[in-house]
Amino acid sequence: LPVSLYSDNRDGFVIIGHRGASAYHPENTMSAFRAAYEMGAEMIELDVTLSKDGIPVVIHDETLDRTTTGQGSVSDHTLEELKTLDAGSWFSAEHAGEPIPTLEEVLEFAKGKISVNIEIKTEAVTDEAWRGIEQKAWELVKKYEMEDYILFSSFDYRAIAHLKKINVDIAAALLYEKQQSGNRTPSELVEGYNADAFNCSYRQFSKRWAKEASEAGFPVFVYTVNSERLMRKMIKRGASGIFSDKPDVLKKIVENL
Ligand code: G3P
Ligand code: CA
Repeated sequence: LPVSLYSDNRDGFVIIGHRGASAYHPENTMSAFRAAYEMGAEMIELDVTLSKDGIPVVIHDETLDRTTTGQGSVSDHTLEELKTLDAGSWFSAEHAGEPIPTLEEVLEFAKGKISVNIEIKTEAVTDEAWRGIEQKAWELVKKYEMEDYILFSSFDYRAIAHLKKINVDIAAALLYEKQQSGNRTPSELVEGYNADAFNCSYRQFSKRWAKEASEAGFPVFVYTVNSERLMRKMIKRGASGIFSDKPDVLKKIVENL
C-alpha cells in the first residue's frame, strides 16, 4: 500500500469511508468522519477545494446549493462566509447546524486515528486562481505530521503533476477520467504520472484492469460501493480497497471473508 494505516490491518485491504460514513451522516462533515472512524473505517475520503480567501475547505460540489444553506460557487465565498452555512440540515433535521469543515479541522481530528484520502477538486478553482491548492493541502499534512497517512487523488491530472513536483514521495492516486486518459491503460497512466495507485468506479473495474494492475503491482481503490453483493464482487476481483458510504457494512464483510 502507498499509505500507512493506524489500524492493525489484516491483509492490506483498506476500508474507506466515502465522504465519511455518508449514508448515515451528512457527507464531508465532522460527524460523518467521526462516525466512519467509530465504525472501523481505516481511511476517510474527502473532497477539498479552496474558499475565496484560499483556505482548503471540505465540500464535494463546485457550488453550495446541494449540501448547504448557501448558494453559488464555493470559491466566491470567504471561509468566514462559508462557516455561517449549515451543511447538515439538507440531510436531516437532527444534523442541522453542522458546519463545512476546513481540511485543517479534519486533519486535527484524524491524526493518530485514521488515514485520509484527500481528493483535490479543481472545478471551483479557476485557472487564474489555481492558487496552489496542492501546496496548501500538503503544508497542512506536514503541519500535522501525517505525511505517511495521506493519499492524495484527483480526476484532474494537473493536480497529480503538481503534487509530484512538490515532492515526488507524496502518495497520489489517479482517478480514472476518460477524457484525460485517452486510450491509455491504467498502467500506462500510473506510470506516465508517476502515481502510486489507481482509483476507479466499480463500473469500470474490469477483470482486464484487475489483471493489469496486479501484474504491474499497483493498488486499485474502487468507488462507491454500498451493496454487500458488489463489495464481495470487487474484493474477489482484487480491489485493494473500497470507498463506501457504509463502512460498517464493508467492515463486516471483510471480517467474515
Ligand atoms: O474518490 C472516489 C470518489 O469519491 C470519486 O467520485 O464524485 O464521489 O468525488 P466523487
Ligand atoms: Ca470524492
